[in-house]
Amino acid sequence: MTDKLIIFDTTLRDGEQSPGASMTRDEKLRIARQLERLRVDVIEAGFAASSNGDFECIKAIASHIKDSVVCSLARANDRDISRAAEALAPAARARIHIFIATSPLHMEKKLRMTPEQVFEQARVAARFARNLCADVEFSAEDGYRSDPDFLCRVVEAVIAEGATTINIPDTVGYAIPDLYGSFIRQLRERVPTSDKAIWSVHCHNDLGMAVANSLAGVMQGGARQVECTINGLGERAGNCSLEEVVMAVRTRRDYFGLEVGIDTTQIVPASRMVSQTTGFVVQPNKAVVGANAFAHASGIHQDGVLKARDTYEIMRAEDVGWSANRIVLGKLSGRNAFKQRLQELGIEMQSEADVNAAFTRFKDLADRKSEIFDEDILALVNDESVTPDQEHYRLLAMAQASEMGERPHARVTFAIGEREFHAQSEGNGPVDAVLQAIESQVRSGAEMLLYSVNAITSGSTESQGEVTVRLQRGGRVVNGVGADPDIVVASAKAYLSALTKLHAHSDRVAAQG
Ligand code: KIV
Ligand code: ZN
Repeated sequence: MTDKLIIFDTTLRDGEQSPGASMTRDEKLRIARQLERLRVDVIEAGFAASSNGDFECIKAIASHIKDSVVCSLARANDRDISRAAEALAPAARARIHIFIATSPLHMEKKLRMTPEQVFEQARVAARFARNLCADVEFSAEDGYRSDPDFLCRVVEAVIAEGATTINIPDTVGYAIPDLYGSFIRQLRERVPTSDKAIWSVHCHNDLGMAVANSLAGVMQGGARQVECTINGLGERAGNCSLEEVVMAVRTRRDYFGLEVGIDTTQIVPASRMVSQTTGFVVQPNKAVVGANAFAHASGIHQDGVLKARDTYEIMRAEDVGWSANRIVLGKLSGRNAFKQRLQELGIEMQSEADVNAAFTRFKDLADRKSEIFDEDILALVNDESVTPDQEHYRLLAMAQASEMGERPHARVTFAIGEREFHAQSEGNGPVDAVLQAIESQVRSGAEMLLYSVNAITSGSTESQGEVTVRLQRGGRVVNGVGADPDIVVASAKAYLSALTKLHAHSDRVAAQG
């Protein structure tokens, strides 16, 4: 019988820890639904004790997701674990994921605890969690840099207390495939009860080896769960990329001999959704999901592919969902077709009034753009995607004038919640004038770290421009994304969306890792 490899997606938890990748409740719920369509085994929905906002997101995801296990991270203490259990209460299948650092460096410098204290805290926390939930994962943070003797003791103790999954993270991306694989194997061989738990790998990508390390942990080490994120999103250089691990195991089944339950045709739609929501653009040459992943530029390659696809293609573009990039709707499409497409994309509107408002925006866009793609629809609803308790910054109207040799000028009307503001300013360019006008009223004092424009769909100038703005204030970094056929309007929307996010989640506690 072929072994199954469990795919544990942590885009909504570890991925969201990337500076600027914070998401609203509606955005997270939409991504969770897409992860369910992708058929991931476990969705790590967040870290319940980190903020009230995260708690509510996990609760909402736990209420809606039926096919995947829904998981919350928790530090190894009663308060965090209780909070995770509470958020997960509505879940059809729940997992509590506890963690504590076990490396000498982290224990001494960060936790300021002795190894014995850490041992005891891990053991007690595993017992506490197991009393609240049948499915308990234990992670030894910075596990790869931990002393194997100590780690074996901790792991044996938490398994005895009921932990069902043991995760050994390479928290800082320091591992080398061969060494990481044999580290996991050594632990599994030395812990007498190792077969009572599923072993898991969680690798960061600081040296660009997260996928290779994870696969070595599976093949050499015998791990049967991989923790990963869509597009490899995650802190610093990111996490192990889901699409790469899954397609490696599928394409080289001859070598891995493992089954994954993923519906690979949902990979590209998931990648697009995460990229559009977070503003983290996928590099064109990224494996599997990059725009060039299946493009053949050289004449020799083109000739070969035309004669026989497998001369240069080891995977089929349609198997990972590239065909999803099709024209779905146009100017003549009606409300029902629009509503059905929203449902197919996993977008749930709160009320019929919301559907009507989105449909009006869709018609407005269809007047200006003949072909509407899935990405356009996502951008359209992303514009309105905020939880009701947030102070939402909205663009109401704007005009700008620019002429060669003249300094551009802009007038903007926008709202914060119910309050309306009128502003105007000059600037170095039209975008600068618009953003300065907004800033003259808001006075956020935020520093802009990034401004980028991309075409949402094909490279044509008819496509909508998608603007990402990254702001930083008081150590917090947020991304705002805005889309419109007019890139100056898209810039204003992106700036206002970043300001909205800057005001939300300010109470969040950061998870390590
Ligand atoms: O990288 C890490 O160690 C983590 C743990 C919290 C699982 O993300
Ligand atoms: Zn991590």
